[in-house]
Amino acid sequence: MSTPKRIAGCLSMLTVASAALAQAPQFGQPIAPADIAPWDISIGPDGVGLPPGRGTAIEGEAIYVAYCQACHGEKGIGPSNALAGALVGGIGTLAPDKIPVKTVGSFWPYATTLFDYIRRAMPFQESKSLTADELYAVSAYILHLNGIIGATDVLDAHSLPNVRMPNQDGFIPFPRNPK
Ligand code: HEC
Repeated sequence: MSTPKRIAGCLSMLTVASAALAQAPQFGQPIAPADIAPWDISIGPDGVGLPPGRGTAIEGEAIYVAYCQACHGEKGIGPSNALAGALVGGIGTLAPDKIPVKTVGSFWPYATTLFDYIRRAMPFQESKSLTADELYAVSAYILHLNGIIGATDVLDAHSLPNVRMPNQDGFIPFPRNPK
């Protein structure tokens, strides 16, 4: 290609590029808050975002037996599914001289995480299928099996963040944005 032709080619490419830049970016439609809401379900340790509803361990037992026991074992011990793991026991085993048994009861620092996790991920084959009452009740049952709350203690948006987990102080704070 001759030099004048190359220059002409470059100029025409520049014209096309600047025409594209002049257009507004085509990023699609703004998403409506109602469309985000079903995805925006994260619950932090303070419990902000917990839905209305309530449940006790006594109510949660039937839900556990129906929807969880097949994989996580009777009363959260002895799971049939090695990946699923035990949900109960091991409290006090996270110590230098012991073999650590990590469960919801022995390891998890916040009870709100239990609600959040079950709501988004369990039952494994049918996640997001339980109602808020069922989620509070089955969370209460697992906490009760771990000896953390009583059989008739009511879990709801107010009481769940106040449940103190045995390993709450077992984590080293890791500041992500040190000042
Ligand atoms: C089909 C089998 C299956 C069923 C049924 C099931 N789970 Fe799970 N569960 C799993 C598996 C597999 C994992 C591990 C998932 C992973 O690590 O990504 C898990 C993980 C969990 C954990 C996290 C445990 C930990 O220490 O990390 C909790 C809590 C839990 N399930 C609760 C429940 C509850 C409550 C139900 C009933 C509503 C339920 N699961 C039903 C298979 C199942």
